[in-house]
Amino acid sequence: MATIAVIGTGYVGLTTGACFAHLGHDVICADIDEEKIARLKEGQIPIVEDGLDRVVAEALSAGKIRFVVGATNASEHAEFHYLCVPTPQGSDGRADLRFLEAAAAEIGPSLPANSVVVNKSTVPVGSTEVVAKHLDRPDVRVVSNPEFLREGTAVQDFLHPDRVVIGSSDQEAAIRVAALYSKVRAPIMVTDPVSAETIKYASNAFLATKLSFVNAIATLCEHVGADVNDVTLGMGYDTRIGKEFLKPGPGWGGSCFPKDVAALARIADDYDYDFALLREVLNVNEAQFQRTAQKVIDALGPDPSSKKVAAWGLTFKAGTDDLRESPAIEVLQRVSGSGAQVVAFDPAIPSEIPQLPLVTVESDPLVAAKNADVLVVLTEWPEFKFVDFDQLADQMRGRTVVDGRNLLDRSTLKRRNFEVIGIGR
Ligand SMILES: NC(=O)c1ccc[n+]([C@@H]2O[C@H](COP(=O)([O-])OP(=O)(O)OC[C@H]3O[C@@H](n4cnc5c(N)ncnc54)[C@H](O)[C@@H]3O)[C@@H](O)[C@H]2O)c1
Repeated sequence: MATIAVIGTGYVGLTTGACFAHLGHDVICADIDEEKIARLKEGQIPIVEDGLDRVVAEALSAGKIRFVVGATNASEHAEFHYLCVPTPQGSDGRADLRFLEAAAAEIGPSLPANSVVVNKSTVPVGSTEVVAKHLDRPDVRVVSNPEFLREGTAVQDFLHPDRVVIGSSDQEAAIRVAALYSKVRAPIMVTDPVSAETIKYASNAFLATKLSFVNAIATLCEHVGADVNDVTLGMGYDTRIGKEFLKPGPGWGGSCFPKDVAALARIADDYDYDFALLREVLNVNEAQFQRTAQKVIDALGPDPSSKKVAAWGLTFKAGTDDLRESPAIEVLQRVSGSGAQVVAFDPAIPSEIPQLPLVTVESDPLVAAKNADVLVVLTEWPEFKFVDFDQLADQMRGRTVVDGRNLLDRSTLKRRNFEVIGIGR
């Protein structure tokens, strides 16, 4: 078993550290956020992620995981150093590598000889070289090992991945990193660093393309009178297409897809390839935010400023508290821009959020719906399906539901005289 330092204890780093500890390795997780580390030392999990609390608690009590402030305090003791720091979108669309470069420069001098630095952050092609340059340690190999976990099922995805991708120009280093996953039953693919980096961006861009495609089909369904649920079901039976990622919605978002699609489009620009398809994927998504918001505004009728909207869902998907680039925020910014009062509920968000200064947040879906003219569903939290719809009808002033996820049962709502406006049906 190996000693692994994890630099950056966020959604990816904490999952990576806890899961490697679960697999039997000795893990030291580092972050610059002192409060986060203090909470983790107490066994408190700073994010909503199914099963993560259990894996961390188990690793803490087995003495398999430690939490420290400052990357060097972790790295000076480890054989492998996983970089899991943010790579946000820069102002020009490119990935901003400042955190990655700073972390590499910080740990470089204190790395034990012949250790391996592994980049798990999502980075543009050539970043393995950039990390090596900032480490300034010719004896240390840098390997790319992109992460494909999904928030909401991160622990499951890490321990049971579809594949593990390792990009290295040094075969021995690749074999050492592959050995860390010896207890994981998944295909391990070893390639060169540039291909590994491209696999990650291409995968996210493909998934985003699938979602924009299905949202465009949903719009077409509205025009021709087809039901997108049936259309996607019929498409998904074709194994070449598959059933996954065929659900229409209010637009896609999250901390990864928007920045990764923009970064891939930028990489194409940098190499003089006009990746027009990707630009259109982004345009369709922007239009989907607007279309969803417009459905709510239209449902309010004249003088939206005298009306109230209840919004169910703020996070970018169910099962997480992550609000980064959430489609719900995109839609609600536009709805509050119409002058309507907006009151929201989300099971993972206890109070008001800075991204929506005009939106009140309640701790109960029915309280949020009180006197609302329109209800809009923006995140696919399963509990929304089990709200007491008789009480909902009593609470609301109006009878319109804009179901941005096609989540709620239409006949249940129609029996209570609700008009249901879905996506693509
Ligand atoms: N969130 C996802 O679902 C997901 C999935 C796959 C890949 N990724 C990629 O993984 C990377 C991390 O994403 P995330 O969502 O975990 O980010 P995050 O913001 O949740 O966590 C990053 C952590 O790094 C810490 N940090 C920054 N600089 C540091 C330093 N010098 N030393 C120690 N800690 C430092 C921050 O304080 C933060 O806690 C990104 O490149 C992202 O694109 C994310």
